[in-house]
Amino acid sequence: MLEARLLSMLEAAKEEGLLRRVLAVEGRGRLIRVDGREVVNFASNDYLGLASDERVIKAMREAAIEEGASSTASRLICGDSAQLRSLEESLAALKHRPAALVFPSGYHANIAAITSLTRQGDFILSDQDNHASIIDACRLSRATTLIFRHNDAHHLDQLLSQTDSGSLRLVVTEGVFSTSGDICALEDIVAVVRRHNAVLMVDEAHSTGTLPPRGRGIEEFYNLVGCVDVGMGTLGKALGAHGGFICGSPALVNTLINYGRPGIYSTALPPPIAAAAAEAANLLLRNGETIVAKLQNNIKLLSAGLLERGLIKEEARTPIIPVEVGEERRTVAVREALFERGFLVAALRYPTVPRGAACLRISVSCLHTEQDLAELPIAIAKTLEETK
Ligand SMILES: Cc1ncc(COP(=O)(O)O)c(C=O)c1O
Repeated sequence: MLEARLLSMLEAAKEEGLLRRVLAVEGRGRLIRVDGREVVNFASNDYLGLASDERVIKAMREAAIEEGASSTASRLICGDSAQLRSLEESLAALKHRPAALVFPSGYHANIAAITSLTRQGDFILSDQDNHASIIDACRLSRATTLIFRHNDAHHLDQLLSQTDSGSLRLVVTEGVFSTSGDICALEDIVAVVRRHNAVLMVDEAHSTGTLPPRGRGIEEFYNLVGCVDVGMGTLGKALGAHGGFICGSPALVNTLINYGRPGIYSTALPPPIAAAAAEAANLLLRNGETIVAKLQNNIKLLSAGLLERGLIKEEARTPIIPVEVGEERRTVAVREALFERGFLVAALRYPTVPRGAACLRISVSCLHTEQDLAELPIAIAKTLEETK
């Protein structure tokens, strides 16, 4: 019975052009081998190239020699380490906050924060385009979830007006959205949140390390440092390591230490990973302006080529650049043809994006050369023409 069900699920995904498979990947960085073929990688979240930075690797190696491979337990048992404590200090400094708490992944961090801070009778107001980890956290929470239109502060305002002002209202959005690359309309959202005396949580998975001036995230970008009550970030994207974190007041962190089940009941981040992430965070702290300027320059170059060929409608400002295709099967065919031309890009399909709104997602990195950035738009334009 199980086998029959599994086969019918896989068949249904295949019919809709939604079947996924694991690519056989070797290597990291600009050039990787996928299924035995060398391609330029436009699909990873390693925006700053820190995953293969020799300083980050050295920190990881030294911690592995000193402490071993695993944290061996959850944080509250004996999974803590000097590397984790020092990582949290660096993250708090990077985010201008008194405290930070690291989780085994960004997914864990979102689940921990949203489920610990809300209870029955509360409201979560979640942007329509929020990441799956936020959606899952809302489903796990006992609060009522209301979805506001993407980046629409006016709609958020309307929804907040319908909620009980005596309850806790947690507004959750992203700094840079993971599928569209849109930047959060933070000024408008903050104004509404303050007017309603609500609480603001921002997922900075893709805004940390990518936004000017220094890669410290959305608050510095808007010159609104301190406006976010619950900051969330990941360590496996621009910081080139692995893990997630929540930052904010000491009371917030202590609450998550005590009530955040994903942290309490999961093995802590291993010391070598924590050391790598701390080194990456320290590089950003010391030299963020220069590192981010290089990424932003690459974004400008690629964006100009895509605009010139009519592949995007407005200039990109973040390293996540979607190119609309629409139909799922055609999107996969375009991705495969681009692969044959030597480029790896992601094909986003339902449920990551709505049905019929499939797109190619290009991820820009500091490591891309001017030639890569000039050639990709040409290859996409040719491929789209050929697969019409
Ligand atoms: C916006 C956003 N939040 C959270 C996560 C989860 O982070 P992690 O990959 O560290 O679990 C991701 C990763 O895909 C993301 O894009």
